[in-house]
Amino acid sequence: MLCEIHDPYTHELLRRAGLGPAHKFLEMGCGLGYVSRWAATQASHVTALDLSEEHLAEAVRMGEAGRLRNIEWRHANIYEHGLPEGTFDYTYSRWILVHLSRPIDAMRKLFGLLKPAGLMVCEEPVVGSVYSEPPTEGYNRYAQVAHTASAIRKADCNGGRRLHTWAVEAGFEIVDLRVYQPHYLAGPHKGFWSWSMEAAGPSLVADGILTQEDLQNMLNSMRAADADPRVLVAGYSNYQLIARKPSKTI
Ligand SMILES: C[S@@+](CC[C@H](N)C(=O)[O-])C[C@H]1O[C@@H](n2cnc3c(N)ncnc32)[C@H](O)[C@@H]1O
Repeated sequence: MLCEIHDPYTHELLRRAGLGPAHKFLEMGCGLGYVSRWAATQASHVTALDLSEEHLAEAVRMGEAGRLRNIEWRHANIYEHGLPEGTFDYTYSRWILVHLSRPIDAMRKLFGLLKPAGLMVCEEPVVGSVYSEPPTEGYNRYAQVAHTASAIRKADCNGGRRLHTWAVEAGFEIVDLRVYQPHYLAGPHKGFWSWSMEAAGPSLVADGILTQEDLQNMLNSMRAADADPRVLVAGYSNYQLIARKPSKTI
């Protein structure tokens, strides 16, 4: 569902960044590989990397079903990727830097992998921007819970709004920054955020961030809002950055 909601915006972003048939493209944290498989239809070659063997196995299976021959799948960590420096025209990542404790170091890795004048395209959310109108207990608590979880895990769940400052610190020049935020009164995508809370629930309970009872109350309130067409639900605002590695680096 994440891909159903966001991939159309991502395709538009990568087209705007100029991705085309002459380019070598790298995706870090490719998850199930939806963006990488699409990129393989636009670029000459795609390398798609993820830390999760489970996600990669599914991505490879779907890639084989689509008979794509120009994708290399790699099981690796963004910090120890083992890829040759200065090889890629584009790097792309979505919803990974907000999970990392060292996002600027991760960007420095991308900097090293790009050719001079290569482009880093990143999309990251501000999780705290979720809300419902009229306000509901479940959606009010969502942002709070995400903030507490990030603090414990030493990551920045609202990192989208700092993307451009991280990029400058990692040595990039900013080319473009845009933001969008999906809003729903009805439809299947309205339930994405309650589904994501349900999926994250067991680890939030295990880490002591929520009790089982808190989690259930939150889910009940969010699902009631999702089912009510008079309640507006706003998802994460998503920050889309295009940044360039300078053609001459010192
Ligand atoms: C929220 S998912 C997003 C997946 C995909 N980018 C998308 O937008 O559909 C984050 C992904 O980053 C991967 N990931 C997390 N930490 C990573 C790391 N240090 N190195 C590589 N991948 C990582 C996870 O395994 C997961 O597949």
